[in-house]
Amino acid sequence: MNGTLRAVTDEHGDGAAIISVRGIVNRFGRQTVHDGVDLDLYRGEVLGVVGGSGTGKSVLLRTIVGLNRPQAGEISLFGQPVSAMSDEERRRVGQRWGVLFQDGALFSALTVAQNIQVPMREHLRMPQRLMDELAALKIAMVGLPPEAGAKFPSELSGGMRKRAGLARALALDPEVVFLDEPTAGLDPIGAAAFDALIAELRDRIGLSVFMVTHDLDSLTTVCNRIAVLAEKRVLVTGDMDTMLANDHPWVREYFHGPRARAALASSGEQTQPAQAGTAYPEKADPEKAD
Ligand SMILES: Nc1ncnc2c1ncn2[C@@H]1O[C@H](COP(=O)(O)OP(=O)(O)OP(=O)(O)O)[C@@H](O)[C@H]1O
Ligand SMILES: [Mg+2]
Repeated sequence: MNGTLRAVTDEHGDGAAIISVRGIVNRFGRQTVHDGVDLDLYRGEVLGVVGGSGTGKSVLLRTIVGLNRPQAGEISLFGQPVSAMSDEERRRVGQRWGVLFQDGALFSALTVAQNIQVPMREHLRMPQRLMDELAALKIAMVGLPPEAGAKFPSELSGGMRKRAGLARALALDPEVVFLDEPTAGLDPIGAAAFDALIAELRDRIGLSVFMVTHDLDSLTTVCNRIAVLAEKRVLVTGDMDTMLANDHPWVREYFHGPRARAALASSGEQTQPAQAGTAYPEKADPEKAD
């Protein structure tokens, strides 16, 4: 391995890809959403996945966690190809990650503590008392007050619901969490606090994070690497400097637009205005994405 490659690898924690996606194709009817998606998630990194609305970020997440079956391609989880796994192996792998879906998806009829216990009931057999203790632990871990455990989702603020969703994603002490736009709908202070929490979990317990986001502040403050979904595939991956140097029109518009300039200025990165008159294949304004 030459020096340059080694330097790049070193940025990926211990260099091990714990999730590898190769040549994924996803079609719904006549619509091709993915046509050869390649992507790796390395241990101990926060990977930010960006792309215009409808480019298939959520479908990619659902494909990796096994909720959507692709038409072609291969996914390796913790070094093992999914196609070679038995159902039991596949189920056990599912215990090694947690997911926070785009719509939050807490069960409205269950309290926060009961929501957190859903994956525990699904995968583990343990006494209620222990589950209550574990739920309290997760609630504290995500910075919710202890009394939040007895509340129903409708009794929480949006930011608290996100934290409760994260607590549920952390229920089984996963190595990886998948977060689908975790800071969407939060005010900037709430979003920054959520990002700080993710960074802390990465740094303290070595959590690896696959984070779909439109949030440029998240990309600049917490993500180690960024992957851009465009033109039905992962167009480019790399750090912020790689994004800033990329010439693709969507990438330029996204990372050099006014919002990006504001986010990057506050983080000390340099950027230039987007070129006028470029054609943009997908929406680039994160606020208008939904
Ligand atoms: N189960 C499904 N059946 C049919 N079409 C689907 C299904 N799931 C997703 N799609 C389509 O796939 C495309 C990609 O959807 P996806 O939800 O992944 O977009 P996204 O990148 O997450 O967008 P957003 O930023 O708005 O969340 C969309 O056109 C969507 O309508
Ligand atoms: Mg989505």
